[in-house]
Amino acid sequence: ESGYICFDQGYGNTGSCESQITYIDGDAGILRHRGYPIEQLAEQSEFVETAYLVIYGELPNAAQRRAFGDLLRTHAEVEEPLQRIFEGFPRTAPPMTILASVVAALAAHHPELAANNFEKDLAVFDTAAAMAISKTRTLGAMIYRHRKGLPFVPSKDTTFCENFLHMMFSQKEPGGPDYLAEPEVVKALNLLLLLHADHEQNCSTAAVRMVGSSSANLFASLSAGVSALSGPLHGGANTAVMEMLQQIHDAGDDGSRFIEQAKSGSKSTRLMGFGHAVYRNFDPRAKIIGAACEKVLAKLGINDPLLDIARHLEQAALRDDYFLSRKLYPNVDFYSGIIMRALGIPVSLFTVIFAMGRTTGWIANWYEVASQPKGRIYRPRQVYTGPVKRDYVPMAARP
Ligand code: SDX
Repeated sequence: ESGYICFDQGYGNTGSCESQITYIDGDAGILRHRGYPIEQLAEQSEFVETAYLVIYGELPNAAQRRAFGDLLRTHAEVEEPLQRIFEGFPRTAPPMTILASVVAALAAHHPELAANNFEKDLAVFDTAAAMAISKTRTLGAMIYRHRKGLPFVPSKDTTFCENFLHMMFSQKEPGGPDYLAEPEVVKALNLLLLLHADHEQNCSTAAVRMVGSSSANLFASLSAGVSALSGPLHGGANTAVMEMLQQIHDAGDDGSRFIEQAKSGSKSTRLMGFGHAVYRNFDPRAKIIGAACEKVLAKLGINDPLLDIARHLEQAALRDDYFLSRKLYPNVDFYSGIIMRALGIPVSLFTVIFAMGRTTGWIANWYEVASQPKGRIYRPRQVYTGPVKRDYVPMAARP
């Protein structure tokens, strides 16, 4: 009834669409992870705890939370052989290309975690999952340093988000001082990662499930997710939103002219960060990020003209029948870039931050598919619209 065709695995079995991880009601603007409303998680939880919930299905008790945090810390470093992969990439290489490459390479450097033999030993899955989450975070910082031609900063024994900011911004020049992130900055990054943790079977998560259904290992499946997320209609939208806002600002427009252009609906002048394949109402994450945006910028004493333009676009679009009639509302990407910019994160890294959060949901979805006792490969059927049967035409008889 949702108009969504589940993958038909070719056996008439659409079980592949079933999942117990995230529930979305697009008309009501509801998002829940394992039954917990995103508003409550955003308010009371933090990224690592929500990551545990999304992967294991229950909120962790104190001992489980401590053990999960320790496992993430244990696997924070990206070992030297994997660091050498960066030498093969120009500094201008697309960040998501580097991320997809190194995440896939984890399988080569940790074959014991890529054998999918976790039915016998669940600790293999626990380690692989923690390694994927922790190293994707570290790789985000390394990609930033690589682009700036700065040496990598070793991991520090601190919280997940503080460690990311430390590995990003410490030692601005070799031997420089450590970066001590303000609590507001750490809290905002935590919220961003939490809000990007999972989102039902979106394009990149469906890619992870598809690849995982062939019994491909976790890292290969995550790499497929990274590649799918890189597209501007998906995870690349947060970058596209900032480029759009900057373009509007540079043209001396307050957004009024752009809104008129956006109504042409052509892909090149779309109002990026607006619309959603499932939400026909506000994306609840957009509401949370929009409110956090105001708070974080005020706390950091930042007056960003792009935020004024974003607010103007949102107010204008929400009064305009073109957008209302198509049920186009702000989505998670509309304000996230403004917060990331306030945290000092460059636009080039925005989609990598998205992937750092979404790796959690990809892992949970991969496990749902890979742990099926009678795991079946996804084999979507098609509606064939090509030529009907015809006979071969020898070269001499061709026009
Ligand atoms: C994410 O699936 C997920 O859950 C994704 C995500 C996640 O967490 O994983 O939520 C993350 O990807 C969020 C979406 C980020 N993308 C953008 O912000 C890019 C801008 N948005 C659009 O490209 C579009 O809205 C989509 C891709 C998000 C949704 O596309 P749909 O639902 O398939 O809509 P459509 O392309 O069929 O368009 C329907 C109509 C068209 O007009 P008409 O043909 O009816 O005249 O709406 C128009 C479109 O032209 N339209 C827009 C628009 N989005 C759709 N017009 C102007 N601006 C827009 N943003």
